[in-house]
Amino acid sequence: MTQIFVTDREGSERPVPATPGLSVMEIIRDAGIDELLALCGGCCSCATCHVYVDDAFASVVGGPTEDEFDLLDGSSHRRTASRLSCQIPFTDALDGLKVTIAPED
Ligand code: FES
Repeated sequence: MTQIFVTDREGSERPVPATPGLSVMEIIRDAGIDELLALCGGCCSCATCHVYVDDAFASVVGGPTEDEFDLLDGSSHRRTASRLSCQIPFTDALDGLKVTIAPED
């Protein structure tokens, strides 16, 4: 079974089952981690699904699209590792991915 590891805003990391074909945002929400608001439901228009991707997976995950980049620009917590989790499709290649939920803007 594939999985990801999610660190919440209190710094606790937990393994979460991950199904290929879902976005990382959907995987986090399906696990009941509701501090990731994902208000727009994955339409790339709210930036409330902001996460930091662990350095070890940066090249596999890749960088943001232009629209995503613009949305992330509005966050005061943006880092080089920032991505919108709704824009990361989970695949087998991302098994073991580690993400940290960014602070709320
Ligand atoms: S859920 Fe709104 S941008 Fe990701």
